[in-house]
Amino acid sequence: MTEKHRAVAIDGPSGAGKSTIAKAVAARCGFIYVDTGAIYRTVGLAVRRADADPHDGAAVAALLPGLDIRFDYGPDGTQRMRLNGEDVSEAIRTPEGSMYASAVAALPVVRAFLLDMQRDMASSHSVVMDGRDIGTVVLPDAGLKIFLTAGLEARAKRRLLELNAKGDPSTFEDVLADMARRDEQDASRAAAPLKAAEDAVLVDTSDMTLEESIDHVCALVKARFGIG
Ligand code: DC
Repeated sequence: MTEKHRAVAIDGPSGAGKSTIAKAVAARCGFIYVDTGAIYRTVGLAVRRADADPHDGAAVAALLPGLDIRFDYGPDGTQRMRLNGEDVSEAIRTPEGSMYASAVAALPVVRAFLLDMQRDMASSHSVVMDGRDIGTVVLPDAGLKIFLTAGLEARAKRRLLELNAKGDPSTFEDVLADMARRDEQDASRAAAPLKAAEDAVLVDTSDMTLEESIDHVCALVKARFGIG
C-alpha cells in the first residue's frame, strides 16, 4: 500500500538559517529532516581526501563509483553522514569543506549521482528537506516550497558566531568574503543554480530572531497541510 508522504522543500543561500529552522520545524511537525548540503559536503570531503581537483568533472566522476555515501539518524534525531562506513558528520563542517562542497555541487555528474538518494528519502517518509534545488529539481511536487533568505551581512554574522563557537578563528571579513564567493558560485553555475521555485513562498529572516523564523515557517507548514 502506498502511503502519501508530505514534503516541505526549503531552499536558499548559506547562512539564512535553513538547517536550524528546517530541523526545528521537522521536529515540531513530526517530519524527518534531510540536510542535503551535508550530502554534497560528503562528496567534497571524499574529493579532498583523494587530492583531486573539485572543479575537474572527469576526475570527480572517476571517484564516484568508489563512494558509499549514506545517512542515518542518531538517537537525538541528528542526521549523521557516513562515507564508506566512516562517520564524517563533523569532518565535513569546515570552511575548506564548504568550498569543496560548493565546487563539486556545480558538477552535473555529482548532482545526478545524489538525486535518487534524496528522492528515495522523500518517497518513504514525510520530510522537510533543505538545499538549493529541492523545490526546483529534487522535489518539484513538494506540497510546500519555501525560499528562505537573509541579507549577506546578517548571514555572515550568524555563520561567524557558529564558527567561533566551535573554536574556528575566522574573522567577519573572512566569513563575509567566503559567503559572497559561495553565493556567486552556487547562483551562477549552469547545473541547478540556486533560485526560488516559481511557486515558493519567500521568507526573509534578516530581521527575525531564530524563534520567530521557526514559528513563521511552522505556521506555513501547518496551514498548508492542515496540521492542527
Ligand atoms: O547547505 P550547505 O552549506 O551545507 O551546502 C554545501 C554546498 O552544497 C553549498 O555550497 C551548496 C551545495 N548544495 C547544492 O548545490 N544543492 C543542495 N541541494 C544542497 C547543497
